[in-house]
Amino acid sequence: MTNPPRVAVFPGSFDPITLGHEDVIRRALSFADRVIVAVAHRSTQSKHALFPISERLEMIEEVFSDEPRVVAAEFEGLLVDFARARGARLVIRGLRTVTDFEYELQMAQMNRALHPEIETIFLAADASLGFVSSSLVREIFGLGGSVEDFVAPPVRSRLREMERTG
Ligand code: PNS
Repeated sequence: MTNPPRVAVFPGSFDPITLGHEDVIRRALSFADRVIVAVAHRSTQSKHALFPISERLEMIEEVFSDEPRVVAAEFEGLLVDFARARGARLVIRGLRTVTDFEYELQMAQMNRALHPEIETIFLAADASLGFVSSSLVREIFGLGGSVEDFVAPPVRSRLREMERTG
């Protein structure tokens, strides 16, 4: 009997997806057969959105157009309910800083209290990308700075387009 595919969910706001996210997702494929990049309609930390959810999904799909094991999806309710409905028992989150850890630990423990069969796995950010975050990308872009080194080509072209059209 063959084992069922190991499905992982990588949840977040992805507004927009960064090279840091991309690195964590590609590394997760060393232990997951499939990664669902799940864009949340509502984040625990409130944020001012740059891209609508539909464009965030498109950018994720474009970034992983070479990788059929990665799919993008959106979700509205609880992350653990979404994971369960998709047959995923793993939730992946990237860790960059100690500050991240406090928030992430609390979420992982709450998710475990809600659905103990779902495990959260933390992957340490690559040292070269530990300072990259969507919120800083949004801020730098909004203030006219260059974010080209922190995002993949599909995101770069959308940001350029946004700049052109205002
Ligand atoms: O990229 P973010 O904004 O840090 O991601 C946070 C996210 C979306 C993973 C978290 O807010 C979440 O899981 N939201 C879905 C609603 C939910 O399940 N809330 C309870 C978390 S313990």
